[in-house]
Amino acid sequence: MFTLLALALAGCGDPRVSALVPQGSNARESLSLIQISAYIMFGVMGVVIFLLAVVLIRFRAKPGDRTIPKQVEGSNLLEFIWTAIPVLIITVLSILTVRLTFSMAQDHSDDPNALKLQVIAHQYWWEFRYPDLGIVTAQDLYIPVGKKISVELWSTDVIHSFWVPALTGKMDANPGALLDGKRQNANRFSFDAETVGVFLGKCAELCGPSHALMEFKVVVLPEDEFNRWVEAMKKPAPKPETTKAAAGEQTFQKNCMACHALEATDPANRPGPNLANIGNRLTIAGVLPAGDDAERAASLRRWIEAPNDVKPQNDVPGTVVMPPFKDKLSPEALDQLVDFLMLQKVDVAPPKAAAR
Ligand code: CUA
Repeated sequence: MFTLLALALAGCGDPRVSALVPQGSNARESLSLIQISAYIMFGVMGVVIFLLAVVLIRFRAKPGDRTIPKQVEGSNLLEFIWTAIPVLIITVLSILTVRLTFSMAQDHSDDPNALKLQVIAHQYWWEFRYPDLGIVTAQDLYIPVGKKISVELWSTDVIHSFWVPALTGKMDANPGALLDGKRQNANRFSFDAETVGVFLGKCAELCGPSHALMEFKVVVLPEDEFNRWVEAMKKPAPKPETTKAAAGEQTFQKNCMACHALEATDPANRPGPNLANIGNRLTIAGVLPAGDDAERAASLRRWIEAPNDVKPQNDVPGTVVMPPFKDKLSPEALDQLVDFLMLQKVDVAPPKAAAR
């Protein structure tokens, strides 16, 4: 059965989403804890199986031998030994686990070398704010390689969990009000990436029907390229040059602008995802393919037409609702809108090979 399972599950590996292929210091330390725990477990198993085999073979009742072996029940020495050994093992494991847990929860918010990041979870998307850089983005999180990222994490609705298996373990995003400038129940932690690339992030807390679709990406860039990305994100939104895209801009202003900003520096704190680099996104709405421009346009159109068909019950009562626009806009207006949105690109794009 194990052989069959191994064969079947071998197809599940994706190095960009595996805690067994760590690409950051948190994930690397987690993996070494997993390995130490596994070695200890295998060691215990080996000793137990060996002792069992010895007992079964050497102390088996011989034919004709009717003597009663020495009775050891109530032996203080034996009781002590098989209590002390597990206590020792558990103590070693708990010291290692607690140490790692606290090292990951270290607050780097006062570290001048750390990049400050606010992660806000929404049903069913992720918002990323860079308070010191003055920009906001969504779904694709850009970070510089090798730098500590100091995260403040919260949610605007239910509990979610931020998880990038290749970079860092899970951390809950709790809903909490802003009181005296302090976010209640916000979690703080820090992580870093040691290699350039794109890594998959997931929501790891059941948060509704579309929980499994609440994906995001972490785009790790060399530091100079990250700085160029930040500068590119600060530029004003590109203006449409064709009449089709200009008509799309009109549609956008009438239907979308109350919720979505086109500029990453937009001060209005709009409730929907920021669209400054929607034309660069690795996926649309976190899950629809955007391998090239044609595919991205088709995905955008599919999302705008009927978001609930992509993410079931995306229109959670009490949250900001993205309505289906297939009943509100003509096919022509939808085409124009997609054309306009496709213009919203910055000239620092994520590594091409990583798109899926
Ligand atoms: Cu958000 Cu599960």
